[in-house]
Amino acid sequence: MKREQWKSQSGFLLAAVGSAIGLGNIWRFSYMAYDNGGGAFLIPYLVALFTAGIPLLILEFGVGHERMGSAPLAYAKIKKNWEWLGWWAVTFVMFGVVLYYIVVIAWCLNFFILSFNLGWGNDPNSFFFKDFLSVSNGPSEIGQVRAPIFVALVIVWFLNWLICYRGVRRGIELANKIFMPLLFFLTSVLVFWSLTLDGAIVGIRAYLTPDFSKLSDPKVWIDAYSQIFFTLSLGFGIMIAYASYLPEKSNISRNAILTGLINSGYSLFAGVAVFAVLGFMATSSGETLSEVVSQSIGLAFVAYPKAVSLIPGGNLFGAIFFFCLVVAGLSSSISIIEAFTSAMVDKFHLRRKPFITLISILGLLGSTIFATQAGLLWLDIVDHFLTHYGLVAVGILECVLVGWLFGSKVLRNHINKISSIKLGIWWDILIKYFIPLVLGIILVGDLWQELSQPYGGYSWSSLILIGWNWVVLTLIVGFVLASRSWKTEHHKACGRSQG
Ligand code: PHE
Repeated sequence: MKREQWKSQSGFLLAAVGSAIGLGNIWRFSYMAYDNGGGAFLIPYLVALFTAGIPLLILEFGVGHERMGSAPLAYAKIKKNWEWLGWWAVTFVMFGVVLYYIVVIAWCLNFFILSFNLGWGNDPNSFFFKDFLSVSNGPSEIGQVRAPIFVALVIVWFLNWLICYRGVRRGIELANKIFMPLLFFLTSVLVFWSLTLDGAIVGIRAYLTPDFSKLSDPKVWIDAYSQIFFTLSLGFGIMIAYASYLPEKSNISRNAILTGLINSGYSLFAGVAVFAVLGFMATSSGETLSEVVSQSIGLAFVAYPKAVSLIPGGNLFGAIFFFCLVVAGLSSSISIIEAFTSAMVDKFHLRRKPFITLISILGLLGSTIFATQAGLLWLDIVDHFLTHYGLVAVGILECVLVGWLFGSKVLRNHINKISSIKLGIWWDILIKYFIPLVLGIILVGDLWQELSQPYGGYSWSSLILIGWNWVVLTLIVGFVLASRSWKTEHHKACGRSQG
């Protein structure tokens, strides 16, 4: 069976950008920047982009293209007994990240509808936590499934199913060709609109005024590297799968650089709308900016609704904002489903369409736990563990596998043969030494923190039962999938550079 291919290089680029630009770009980035020294944060952020983000994107694009396979297949073709690493990545992303990521998209869909009549009322904080999520007292108190969230969840899973079911070209590529221009256009509307609001400049100043003293704080650097890693969808096997659908002649390094720059450019741009609105709110309510800014989730679902209620014609503003989040989220969630599907199809010779249907139904069922009253708490714990440990561990091992065992030079030669921007030895150094070192420091720092006090004030038992278990169970599933025998011959073939 011939591997499906993108119709055009720009289609691939848009899909990669679509995966990268997600919920995290809009509010997570803005909050990180604000919290970590405003304009000064751009320094560690850009350093992280150029020393880890783009080099790793080149690696993932290069491996997917050269080995012509999803993460498990590509890794198995490098070293047979490393196949599990690819499975682990695509498993924790399919049976972890995407399950709650889609629930957050479902919240956004609800808020999109609520925007039209400012349905969150006068107290968005109490609306979000009490009326909408109805958060229970602890992770073990599951409570009931929240009906409005569940309905939206069904819709969002249906859209994911529909796009992936139609295949790489007619589904994912087409969807991103519609979604990305739409997202850029609507975000521009928000940015220009927000700049006309009274007090916008107060927010922008807070967002961009550099506080250089923060640069000596290691936390700022760790946050920058973690943000780059998550925002570029690295370490999930996604970019590997996407690159495996590229034709022989593909400009790997240029595509990776463009993906990195567009993604970060979008974050910076969207941050303007976020902060201009917060500045407006601070000005009109007479509060200081630090009083109106709240942490990540609160920023999108509490502070923003509050501001939207104050803007003249704000319901349209709110609707556009939440619609952007839905679109940005969808183009990321489909990339996760594709990463897992392509891995299963590569190994077990499954028929794509029925498999997509099955996995979407299982996904919907799995997501339901995050749509209950304990959903927010579960989401918080699972997200913390998977993105802090799974992701970073995969990143380190990926550098070891490709940099040392496969040989970064082999891959670099392959990439240089077909790309317009040539990589030098600096790339090998980053992959073999620098990135594993930085990620190693982050991992140790996180573990230290983890053991010194329970994350988020949860009980140790919930953290172990939900968080650590999730990491370990997906790892076991990864090993089991890797131990099954191949139903295809793909793994016997060589890569593109070896004919
Ligand atoms: N890059 C996405 C974001 O910034 C998140 C994401 C991570 C998407 C992993 C897919 C997979 O929101």
